[in-house]
Amino acid sequence: MDVNPESEKKLFFHNYARLPIAVTHGEGVWLVSDDGTRYLDMISGIGVNALGYGDQRLVDAISSQAAKLIHASNLFMMEPQFELAAKLLSLSGFSKVFFANSGTEAIEAAIKIARKWAGLSGNHDKKEVLSLSNCFHGRTYGALSLTAKAKYSDGFDPLLPGTGMITFNDIADLEAQVSDKTAAVFIEVVQGEGGIHRVSQPFIDRLKELRERYQFLIIADEIQSGCGRTGTFFSYTQVNADPDLVCLAKPLGGGLPLSAVIGSEKVADVLSYGNHGTTFGGNPVACAAGIAMIKAIEEDNLMAHASEIGTFINNEVQKLAAKHPQILEIRQYGLMVGIMVDKEAKVYVGQALEKHVLINATSVNVIRLLPPLTISREEAQHCITTLDEIFTEETAEQAAAAERC
Ligand SMILES: Cc1ncc(COP(=O)(O)O)c(C=O)c1O
Repeated sequence: MDVNPESEKKLFFHNYARLPIAVTHGEGVWLVSDDGTRYLDMISGIGVNALGYGDQRLVDAISSQAAKLIHASNLFMMEPQFELAAKLLSLSGFSKVFFANSGTEAIEAAIKIARKWAGLSGNHDKKEVLSLSNCFHGRTYGALSLTAKAKYSDGFDPLLPGTGMITFNDIADLEAQVSDKTAAVFIEVVQGEGGIHRVSQPFIDRLKELRERYQFLIIADEIQSGCGRTGTFFSYTQVNADPDLVCLAKPLGGGLPLSAVIGSEKVADVLSYGNHGTTFGGNPVACAAGIAMIKAIEEDNLMAHASEIGTFINNEVQKLAAKHPQILEIRQYGLMVGIMVDKEAKVYVGQALEKHVLINATSVNVIRLLPPLTISREEAQHCITTLDEIFTEETAEQAAAAERC
């Protein structure tokens, strides 16, 4: 079977801009392609592979659960689901869990819970669901309607009615937009696709005050920032956002499709039988993987490690910024790192690939790094050295071109 860009074009809808390499396996933080080339993976399956590749505890949990039961559906009770739900509740102090399969499905479930909760108040105008400009919440219709950038929604209208957007970190706009018609406000405490921006403390404080006044829900989308990536299990604790619902996905299933919505006591009784559900949600193999993943994060102190290596990357990129004018800014929260550059960041993705380092471009001019939480200081340094080389070569080429003119 040819696994190359030509056959990809023939076989698939053209919705993914894939890198021109076929990967076959991984070892630690290294992803290996079919010709045996090893790539330092600073993307980790878009923030999924928190433990890197080949963690034996994860492999064992998946294979032993697969040997016992791969799927039965939510017609039944299954221990791995119960164990993972209990763990998430103990980590959050919340009351209830709903499992789905992807980030966008968690957002859909949260929108439904919020609207039904608001309707129970007796105010039938209380339907409005708001998000923040520059955000990303997913690509199914509800989540897409909350997602900021037109490039994701162009051509797909009409979107979900009753949605709107508050300008990111703009308290005056927040005050102008929320009212007693507001059912919920979705926030990403650290915006990922939006280029690594953290919501400000004054904005969060005002949002919480307005929640008291107008009685709406605060919903934290922790799909990219959660499960330890920013140095704490949930990033909302760092700004004391006190959400009513939290959406998790990406690393939650250890690389298998799994997402969760966890809800506080306020929303605990909103859903009734048949109100919501999904055949695969809370698949026992994915839940067993999730339990192993969280255990490994705790056993190996990976949250503290993410903070430490993130700070190291930040310091090293600051040093690069002092000598490379291409770097405009670095924004870093644990191992969510955004390096703002003076041109389209995708230029550097191809150059890094040639040097066998996988980086990602987001929000046009931001190099995004989301490495496995297990990355060592030496491996992080290898990425920094590669970026240094790329910027140095670019400057040398520009100087040579200027001389030729
Ligand atoms: C913050 C956030 N929310 C939602 C999603 C959607 O998740 P999924 O791609 O699993 O549907 C993503 C995916 O990148 C995300 O980063």
